[in-house]
Amino acid sequence: MDTIRTDCLVIGAGLAGSSYAHYACSQGLSVAMVCAHELSSGTNSRWAQGGIIFDTSYNPEQLERDIMEASDGTANPTAVRSLVSEGQDAVQALLLDELQVPFDRAEDGELLYTREGGHSDRRIIFSKDVTGRAILSSFHRYVQSLRGLTILENHVAIDLLTLSHNSVHPNDKYKPITCIGAYVFDALSGETKAIIAKKTILATGGLGQIFQNTTNQRGVVGHGVAMAQRVGARLIDLEYIQFHPTVFLKKNCQLFLVSEAVRGEGGVLVNSRGKSFMDTQHPRGSLAPRDIVARAIHRELMASGESCVYIDLSGLKPEFIKDRFPSIYERALASGVDISREPIPVAPAAHYTCGGVYTDLEGRSSVLNLNAIGETACTGLHGANRLASTSLLECLVSAKLTALADVRDVANDDFHLPDVHEWRSPDEVADEVLIRQDMRLIKSTMWNYVGLVRSRRRLMRARRILSQLAEEIGSFYADNRLSRSLIELRNAVKSALLVVHAASLNPRSKGSHYITDEEEIDLPLERHDDLK
Ligand code: SIN
Repeated sequence: MDTIRTDCLVIGAGLAGSSYAHYACSQGLSVAMVCAHELSSGTNSRWAQGGIIFDTSYNPEQLERDIMEASDGTANPTAVRSLVSEGQDAVQALLLDELQVPFDRAEDGELLYTREGGHSDRRIIFSKDVTGRAILSSFHRYVQSLRGLTILENHVAIDLLTLSHNSVHPNDKYKPITCIGAYVFDALSGETKAIIAKKTILATGGLGQIFQNTTNQRGVVGHGVAMAQRVGARLIDLEYIQFHPTVFLKKNCQLFLVSEAVRGEGGVLVNSRGKSFMDTQHPRGSLAPRDIVARAIHRELMASGESCVYIDLSGLKPEFIKDRFPSIYERALASGVDISREPIPVAPAAHYTCGGVYTDLEGRSSVLNLNAIGETACTGLHGANRLASTSLLECLVSAKLTALADVRDVANDDFHLPDVHEWRSPDEVADEVLIRQDMRLIKSTMWNYVGLVRSRRRLMRARRILSQLAEEIGSFYADNRLSRSLIELRNAVKSALLVVHAASLNPRSKGSHYITDEEEIDLPLERHDDLK
């Protein structure tokens, strides 16, 4: 087994992981960044459409209020303040000055701003409808030449290494649980490596792919929370799964995100009779916070028995639509819908994991030397429902604060980094038919019983199905040779059970966690959101 030793191991190469690599390497640390696919594909950040908050006529108090309001009053005020006070500088220094990301500008060179749900101002900068791609392309060109950075493409993390579980020295098991890196699987060669690191940073994104319909990219099944849970890290708020209200939905066509910016620029949600239905639901109408819009759509669909509602763009000029939303326009056209002339068929889909690995504002989890950043982490910034266009900003800010704290720790602390046991894997090749069917069962169970609208009975049913499946998958995993799909399946069922567990323990509807039979529950109000 090959072993690599480095100061920092970053698992994930989206905006959070890449930003961490930038900040840590610029301060002289060595970083190994593991990327499950090629660097140029695969991450959720790359597919972000909307934009990132940055506003030269900044009103921080109002932004804090918007984040709090979107979260239904549940966000952690300290985390909100930190994002708001650090965000502007991070965008200016890294994205605008250093990387010169091509955000859209007016003819005079001034940045253009758009608006999304829950925002009281136009304060989001964007690059057409491919903001994530614009940022990540600039970033990935840049990180390739960073001194001290080793990029391992097509490498999937299997399990975290801890002193207590993996050290070759038996007495290390008496030490506090301390992370010392991870076993990673090279998906091209089939080999397994140990990467031993002073600091390990989980930046694997969320877990949308455990749901049938999602905006998330392939393989995004909660690798970070699953691995963290297996070494005993504290997880919080996992019941808060944000459903994006508007995902393109047409029979036999591929789903894709239809950015909230489409509504920010004037698109209006209507039902199949062309009647707008959001104005009676919220003062911001089609631009209400996402949880409210997604549930209103759900109600509309339940009442009509139809599969989608529509975004009416008749108030926008066809040329503007094509120019401002070229990617959405092309993708819809490929499915036979010309959005410059007809409404866009949409429905909600799983989008963002508001909870995750509990961390402080410098990325520290409850396990020593294990950090989490971006969507994998939960500082409480989003509470029960995230405000649009805060996610890329959180990636930048959490990566920066975590990297700077790690630079200090690496300079000042002593690290015990022993050799670890060899990885052993059986020879039997896993049956892909079983893997695919198990994945389908996880996704349909989560979609039907743990989705936008939950009930106690549905959650109990989900728990029974998934617990039994987890047992099957556990022995299947132990008996078969590692593969990318087997690693994904193992983590998917773990993440699914963690979400079900968190949802079952929280009897109150709040933000994105909505329980139909809430009133009947006679439980004390305190939260039970720690999963050890
Ligand atoms: C969108 O463009 O609607 C998604 C952006 C986000 O999730 O913040």
